[in-house]
Amino acid sequence: MKLSRRNILKSLGLGALAFTTTPLLGEPNSTLFAPIPDADDPEFWKKIREQFPLNKETVFFNSGTVGAMPRVVVDKMVEHLRYLSVDVADWAYKDDNKEEFISGYNNLMGIRTKVAKLINGTAADIAMTDNVTNGMSYVANGISLQPGDEVLTTDQEHTGGKGGWLVKEKRYGVVFKTVVVPKPAHSSPEVYDVIVKAMTPKTKVLMLSHMITGSGAILPVKELCLEARRRGIFTVLDGAQTIGQIKVDVKDIGCDVYLGCFHKWIGAPAGTGFMYVKADRMKDIWTTVASGRWDNHEDEGFRFTQRGTGNFPVLKGLEAALDFHEEIGQDKVYTRIKFLGERLRTGLRKNKKVKIFSPEDESMCAGITVYNIEGFTGTRIQDTYWAKAKMRPRSQGDQFGVRHCTHIFNSPEEIDKAIAIVNEMAP
Ligand SMILES: Cc1ncc(COP(=O)(O)O)c(C=O)c1O
Repeated sequence: MKLSRRNILKSLGLGALAFTTTPLLGEPNSTLFAPIPDADDPEFWKKIREQFPLNKETVFFNSGTVGAMPRVVVDKMVEHLRYLSVDVADWAYKDDNKEEFISGYNNLMGIRTKVAKLINGTAADIAMTDNVTNGMSYVANGISLQPGDEVLTTDQEHTGGKGGWLVKEKRYGVVFKTVVVPKPAHSSPEVYDVIVKAMTPKTKVLMLSHMITGSGAILPVKELCLEARRRGIFTVLDGAQTIGQIKVDVKDIGCDVYLGCFHKWIGAPAGTGFMYVKADRMKDIWTTVASGRWDNHEDEGFRFTQRGTGNFPVLKGLEAALDFHEEIGQDKVYTRIKFLGERLRTGLRKNKKVKIFSPEDESMCAGITVYNIEGFTGTRIQDTYWAKAKMRPRSQGDQFGVRHCTHIFNSPEEIDKAIAIVNEMAP
């Protein structure tokens, strides 16, 4: 049996929680779940936890590195892998441009449409990539800059966000200019001011993380993009940590480029990402990975998707993950993540030996909390968590302790237990 979207929803087994006057899997517009009263409704979230094959003996707090996949995603991938191995001869190649067999040669409109919906973009403006590093390299390599032109960014960007620009600097004499953002950040206006003050007439590109990887700080990207646009600066946002965690609306933000991945917070298989380019800026970016339709300007996103033979089962897994996410609902996912993240930060703040590097202003935080304990290193905290309760946050090194991510498969009990462990480490 092939797993259709209908089968995927059925396999969630969440019927008991559905609003009974709406047919469970009825009209296309009907939703599976009724609005739930509270983000901490335990029954609902227990059911969601059951959709993840994650080992029940362990507690996963590292979605910021690579996320946990729901069962439907794994099933969908395996099913498609089997399908390819059994039925590849059915494929008539030229006459049959199905989104089924090799991913680098068709426009993947089905998946791009789902991605567009997720970020309030347009499918034609979306290119599928393997990850954020990949997409950022397409942009940095593909944009034309002169020696001395400045690319402005912060001191807290991920290597995958910076790498492409560092190549550009070395190869073409472009200046990669970093501005220091306080850690912890105190407020959005503070971050806005330090970045805007660093803009000069030479600034041609503003490249920023929407959410900083090493603190979870959500930057005021809408306001920054507005100011950049006023000055004619091209804006590129790194959304590696936002997609699936907080709501992203590229039209509202007004950026020129937005890059994201699905293998952290959406629960998709590793090696799935996208690049959004605003329609009127597409022509500003040359194709980097090129094949037959490298100069296609009708369906622009497809131009960047000319990647040669790719892995279709992974894309099928991605599609299932996007459906899963949408079916729960972006707002519910965010509310739950934030509820758990805030619970963790509130608990940690009560311990005077804990230093938190995530922003002091809660409106700049969601599911990432970075903290250290007096006298500890990140590795020691990480190892203590594992030894005491098989909990897995991720070390951030000696200074910054651990990054602790909360997601929909986590529970308030797990958060409370984590806080208790911290209090044992630092009584
Ligand atoms: C802010 C940020 N940018 C880029 C990356 C790299 O992402 P990818 O592995 O999808 O290329 C990460 C990964 O953690 C990240 O946090």
